[in-house]
Amino acid sequence: MIKRVGVLTSGGDAPGMNAAIRAIVRAGIANGLKMYAIFEGFKGLVEDDIIEVDRSFVSEILMRGGTILRSARLPEFKDSAVQDIAVANLKKHGIDALVVIGGDGTYRAAGALSRKGINTIALPGTIDNDIASSDYTIGFDTCLNTITECVDKLRDTTSSHQRCSIIEVMGNHCGDLAIYSGTACGADLILSPEYLPSEKEIISKLRHIHLTRSRHALIIVSEKLLPNLEDFAKHIFEATGFETRVEILGRIQRGGSPSASDRVLAARMGVYAINALMNQKTSRCVGIRGMQVVDYDIDEALKMTKSNSSELIDVISTLK
Ligand code: F6P
Repeated sequence: MIKRVGVLTSGGDAPGMNAAIRAIVRAGIANGLKMYAIFEGFKGLVEDDIIEVDRSFVSEILMRGGTILRSARLPEFKDSAVQDIAVANLKKHGIDALVVIGGDGTYRAAGALSRKGINTIALPGTIDNDIASSDYTIGFDTCLNTITECVDKLRDTTSSHQRCSIIEVMGNHCGDLAIYSGTACGADLILSPEYLPSEKEIISKLRHIHLTRSRHALIIVSEKLLPNLEDFAKHIFEATGFETRVEILGRIQRGGSPSASDRVLAARMGVYAINALMNQKTSRCVGIRGMQVVDYDIDEALKMTKSNSSELIDVISTLK
C-alpha cells in the first residue's frame, strides 16, 4: 500500500500547475497519505530538496500563476546513475510514489522512475498542448486567452496604422496555440507546423487585403517554424507594399492567473491521479478525452500522435 507521495512540477511552467498541486496534496491527505513537496522538479529530487507538507501548504494558491514548487529542466536526468540518486533520496524519506506535472520530457523521466520501482503518475502541465494522450493540457486554455487578449490589442494599432502584424506565439513544435488563437482572433493567416499555406498563397492573400479590403492584416505564426521573422516581414513589404511589424509575445504567454477551465481540469486530474495510486496503478499518465478523465501507460502515451486539431484546420480552411 502507498503511504507517502511526492509531488513536483517540471519543464516550462504553466498556469494551473498550482491548482493541480493543491488538488494532489489535498486528495492525498483526504486518503490518509503523507504528502511531500519536491522543489525545482527532478533537480530537487536529485538534490534532496524535499519537505513534508500539510493541507495549509496549498492554501491560497489556486488562483496563482507559475508554480509554488518552482520548475527546472534537468537534461542529466536521462542518465541512469542520476535517476538512482533520485530513487535513493525518495527511499530516504520513505516516499513510495510520485505525481509529476509537466510536458513530454517530464513523462519520459516519470517512465524511467517507474522502471526503477517508484510508483509514478504524470499529469499534462504545459501551455503547448502537445501531449497526444490528452485532448487538452493544464495551462493551454489560459495561454490561449492571454494570446487572444494580446492579439485583440495588437489589432487596434495594426488597423490604425494600416499595417501587417506578424505575431509569433509559443507551442514548441505543436501548432495548437497558433491554430486555436488564430481562429479565436480571426487572423488573416495562420502559419503552423500542421497548417502552412504556400508562399504564393501568403503573398497573394496579403496583396489582395492590401489593395482591396480592410488594409490591415494579422498573421499568427508558430515559434520555431520560420528561420527569421524579420526577413519574412521584409519579404512581405517588398512583395506587397504592406508596412509589416514583427511581434514576439514570448513568456508573457506562460504567466497569469489560470482560467476557470484550467483550474477545473487541474482539480479533476489531481484527484484522479491520487485515486489511480490508491488503486495500485503505476507508470500511468492522466489525460482528458472528450469529457472523460482517463489514464494510459506512460510509454504507450509517448508513442501516440496528436490528431485533435484536424477539425479546426478544416474550419480555418473554410473561413480563410
Ligand atoms: O514548453 C513550454 C514552452 O514555453 C515552449 O512553448 C517554448 O518553446 C519553451 O517552453 C521555452 O522554454 P524556456 O522558457 O525554457 O526557454
